[in-house]
Amino acid sequence: MNIIVTGGAGFIGGNFCHYMTGKYPEDTIICIDKLTYAGNMETLAPIMEKPNFRFIRADIADRDAIYKIFEEEAPDIVVNFAAESHVDRSITDPEVFLRTNIIGTSVMLDACRKYGIKRYHQVSTDEVYGDLPLDRPDLFFTEETPIHTSSPYSASKASADLLVQAYARTYKLPCTISRCSNNYGPYHFPEKLIPLMIANALNDKELPVYGKGENVRDWLYVEDHCIAIDLIIRKGTPGEVYNIGGHNEKTNLEVVKTVLAQLGKSEDLITYVTDRPGHDMRYAIDPSKIHKELGWLPATPFEQGIKKTIDWYLENREWWENIISGEYANYYEKMYGNR
Ligand code: NAD
Ligand code: TYD
Repeated sequence: MNIIVTGGAGFIGGNFCHYMTGKYPEDTIICIDKLTYAGNMETLAPIMEKPNFRFIRADIADRDAIYKIFEEEAPDIVVNFAAESHVDRSITDPEVFLRTNIIGTSVMLDACRKYGIKRYHQVSTDEVYGDLPLDRPDLFFTEETPIHTSSPYSASKASADLLVQAYARTYKLPCTISRCSNNYGPYHFPEKLIPLMIANALNDKELPVYGKGENVRDWLYVEDHCIAIDLIIRKGTPGEVYNIGGHNEKTNLEVVKTVLAQLGKSEDLITYVTDRPGHDMRYAIDPSKIHKELGWLPATPFEQGIKKTIDWYLENREWWENIISGEYANYYEKMYGNR
């Protein structure tokens, strides 16, 4: 099978390309990525020479480029990871989120209609459900929870989901959607909580915790997300949405303290900074549908996953040091300089 993976030079898409090229030597993985600030060819370096992997630089919102790729590659399956993915950036500059996350998705869907496809899979997020209150630990997001977004990022992802559902119903396009909780693991861009805290701690720099650090996220090791998507594209039912999460809720402060403890660094590095506007309080996934229908369960407990992740950042300093010493330094100054 020919499988197009968009956004494969990013965090989750990159891990997915590693996973799929290793597991299915008989399939061809064609990675399409625009290489924005978040895309990194170093992430794909270990698989670039594999005979079942190809990289094409293209923008998913560029209709001509995407149609040409479909014509040449005749994909059986498309997995759309490509997105602008950072909530803080969506607050300062929403427009590019609308272009990539909504228009880009519509172009990918149109290409699937035009050239035919066995499956289109949209990689979505639990953030489309909005947030849950901290004092109701009994509540979880199910696939029936209404869409109720908070940030320009989540609004753009929800818009994309609605388009996918419209194409599935109107044009009978065989689509699935997965909505996953927060991922962590290797190749995670150091603007996101866990890699940012690891990098800052290793550099004895302040760890900027938004507000009181009491917001809750439901953390999943990235490989477990990849396994779930692989199951959905092969065995999931077209037209369905699948939530992915491992009941691993932690406050941000708990996560930051775990990182510091593992690295043997002092909690004095923690600095409380101005909260994110509209900051979602708690995300928590009910993953019972994907467990019951597809037998998926997360394989990596948090204690193991966070250790593997920290070890990876220790062993791959060059990967993230190249990022934080480059253009990203200007972003960091802009985002945290006056916070
Ligand atoms: P990321 O920011 O690390 O990577 C995004 C990739 O998409 C980059 O390689 C970038 O170059 C590429 N890209 C951006 N705009 C593009 C365009 N117009 N055309 C082609 N490529 C483009 O993101 P991530 O954390 O790996 O997230 C991947 C997907 O998973 C996103 O759709 C995101 O919404 C979703 N998701 C992420 C998480 C998480 O915790 N990170 C959780 C649930 C869902
Ligand atoms: P993030 O990794 O940006 O993911 P998301 O907002 O999509 O869940 O942030 C995770 C949590 O960590 C979120 O509650 C915001 C918080 N946070 C901080 O406290 N400090 C930071 O510097 C960052 C980037 C995030």
